[in-house]
Amino acid sequence: MKLPKSYYNTLSYIGTLVAGLSLLLIIFLFMITYFFHVGSSYIGLFLYIIIPSLLVLGLIIIPVGMFFERRRNRLEEKGKIKKSKLIIDLNNYRHRNAVFIFTLGTIVFIFLTGIGSYEAFHITESVKFCGTTCHTVMKPEYTAYQNSPHANVTCVECHVGEGADWYVKSKLSGLYQVYSVIFKKYPKPIPTPVHSLRPARETCEKCHWPKKFYSNLLVSERHYLADKNNTEWDINLRMKIGPNHSANGFTEGIHWHINKNVKIEYITNKEDRSSIPWVRYINKVTNDTVLFENTESPLKEKEIEESDLKTREMDCMDCHNRPSHVYSAPQDFVDEAISAGLISRDIPKIKARAMKVLNKKYSTQDSAIMIITEKLNSYYSKKYPEIYNDSAQLVQKAIVAITDEYKKNVFPEMNASWDAYPNFIGHKEYDGCFRCHSGSHKSSDGQTISKDCNLCHTILKQGSNAENMEVADIDSSLTFKHPEDIDGEWKETNCSECHRELY
Ligand code: HEC
Ligand code: HEC
Ligand code: HEC
Ligand code: HEC
Ligand code: HEC
Ligand code: HEC
Repeated sequence: MKLPKSYYNTLSYIGTLVAGLSLLLIIFLFMITYFFHVGSSYIGLFLYIIIPSLLVLGLIIIPVGMFFERRRNRLEEKGKIKKSKLIIDLNNYRHRNAVFIFTLGTIVFIFLTGIGSYEAFHITESVKFCGTTCHTVMKPEYTAYQNSPHANVTCVECHVGEGADWYVKSKLSGLYQVYSVIFKKYPKPIPTPVHSLRPARETCEKCHWPKKFYSNLLVSERHYLADKNNTEWDINLRMKIGPNHSANGFTEGIHWHINKNVKIEYITNKEDRSSIPWVRYINKVTNDTVLFENTESPLKEKEIEESDLKTREMDCMDCHNRPSHVYSAPQDFVDEAISAGLISRDIPKIKARAMKVLNKKYSTQDSAIMIITEKLNSYYSKKYPEIYNDSAQLVQKAIVAITDEYKKNVFPEMNASWDAYPNFIGHKEYDGCFRCHSGSHKSSDGQTISKDCNLCHTILKQGSNAENMEVADIDSSLTFKHPEDIDGEWKETNCSECHRELY
């Protein structure tokens, strides 16, 4: 193989050397990360940013050298300059200085490029960058995140995780996102679920490894009814996350689904996975397989075969799909604010009025805040002038709390709210667990995925005041009493059928 004559010059040799070494380094690092599955995002930084830049630099230097060489050849032919050779003589102090300056300059240059890309890398990984660069688009996720139990976990710890390959994947999809933001091509709301999300077990389990899961969790809830007195209704539950004795592992309890001997697959017929008519449970030890189908609305044979209805293996995300972007429903965030004392229970009908104004559709957050404030002011000044005037501070504080909570949970500009993003823990506003535990998912031999109210939790306490408060001891459970008399309707009807559209 012969190269053009002009290639044979020092500058092009240097370019070749730089490009060649970079290529070798890339191959070497790639082999390490690929075959040994080691490597952090930092290797990714070198592998995909710094060394390729050097490679490109080398490739640019080659033709530049060729250009100069050709020009010199032409000049030589015309006799304009004397033929010369490059001679570096380190005994000559001028040459020595030149070499020294050149070497130092190169090192400093590479070093600064390194720092530069390292910083660029850090900035693109930071919570601020992820959360605010595309401000309006990700405002809902960013705001909800800041109020979540994961506010101190960075976006990339869940969305990218460790390893160079996911770093690149995320930056590539990031490029597409930049394009869609610039040209306003993004959907509102951003669709859920995120199909390209890294498997939860590779990210969540970095911090929550199953060995350290709790067996039980106490959940104490305070609800307020939409009546004149905002009647308080307390419910304490003992969630049976694991077995009664943690040494037993995941042989029973809620986290049984992620037992390594258990595999649960399902098919959903809703884009957001809010309905699951087909579930297959495989016991990986005995290889026993049980197929459960929703007998009330089974999938048709044809639907099962259709290619876009793929089976999905259940993991953390099928219950904890909102670990960080929690959009609470108005009834829930108002209950929390009353419980926290931000909204006074002494204001008559405050829960009911809040429900009325919060469940309307608004076009922007600003207009929502204005209308909500105005409506509540006009209602209380007309209907309860004594309270409105005598306890003006109390009423104003409540109105501020209601609008503050609205700002944290509802984002009309992006159509993001509890309605658009189901939360699969529980079963009140969304079917959540009842997507499978509906009582009508049955196998051909008569097994049912249980809807027994004591399967997942026991009720330790329920009621509204000292007279009607029921209390059980830690080992027993109360029979559920619905806060409003609905004639046992909750036994037959899924909670969400009423609770999605209660207000
Ligand atoms: C604790 C882990 C975790 C952290 C931290 C986290 N996310 Fe998420 N995020 C998720 C999960 C899980 C989903 C997907 C839910 C699904 O697919 O149902 C998601 C979904 C999203 C979505 C898609 C829309 C939606 O709400 O489903 C966006 C956008 C997003 N996250 C942005 C961010 C940004 C920006 C940050 C940092 C400010 C961040 N995330 C931090 C876990 C996390
Ligand atoms: C970088 C570490 C980290 C990662 C990654 C992480 N978490 Fe967490 N998680 C935490 C911390 C810290 C808390 C708060 C302390 C606690 O409650 O244990 C927490 C709390 C929780 C809780 C309890 C929430 C509550 O209301 O108290 C759940 C559930 C949870 N995480 C699920 C997840 C899921 C699902 C993922 C994966 C999408 C995930 N976490 C990823 C660190 C992490
Ligand atoms: C994709 C379907 C699916 C979803 C969603 C689901 N489960 Fe299950 N669950 C199952 C199946 C299948 C079984 C096993 C039924 C059997 O063999 O009788 C099961 C069993 C259980 C058990 C009994 C475990 C034992 O043997 O002790 C508990 C507890 C449980 N689920 C809790 C929950 C909770 C809580 C949720 C919601 C956060 C939930 N499940 C969501 C499919 C599901
Ligand atoms: C079948 C549904 C389901 C699955 C699957 C599931 N969880 Fe949970 N998990 C729950 C429920 C229900 C609770 C109780 C918390 C509550 O009621 O808010 C819980 C509690 C937790 C908690 C808080 C209590 C504790 O032990 O620290 C963490 C952390 C957690 N889960 C992490 C995970 C991770 C990580 C995975 C995946 C490896 C996972 N869960 C899979 C339903 C599930
Ligand atoms: C498959 C598991 C499962 C079954 C079966 C189940 N629940 Fe629940 N339940 C949950 C989970 C998970 C939560 C959420 C706890 C939380 O918010 O942290 C919950 C919450 C509740 C709450 C508290 C209010 C709320 O929604 O936050 C009540 C009350 C309740 N359940 C009653 C019942 C009754 C009554 C039944 C029987 C018809 C039942 N549950 C069956 C898993 C289950
Ligand atoms: C037939 C319709 C219906 C069904 C089914 C139903 N509820 Fe309710 N629920 C109501 C009504 C009506 C109220 C009263 C609302 C108010 O006054 O704010 C209520 C109030 C509540 C409250 C207190 C207020 C709040 O929103 O937190 C809880 C908790 C509750 N229900 C839990 C459940 C659970 C859990 C189930 C399923 C096991 C269920 N409900 C099934 C109609 C229903």
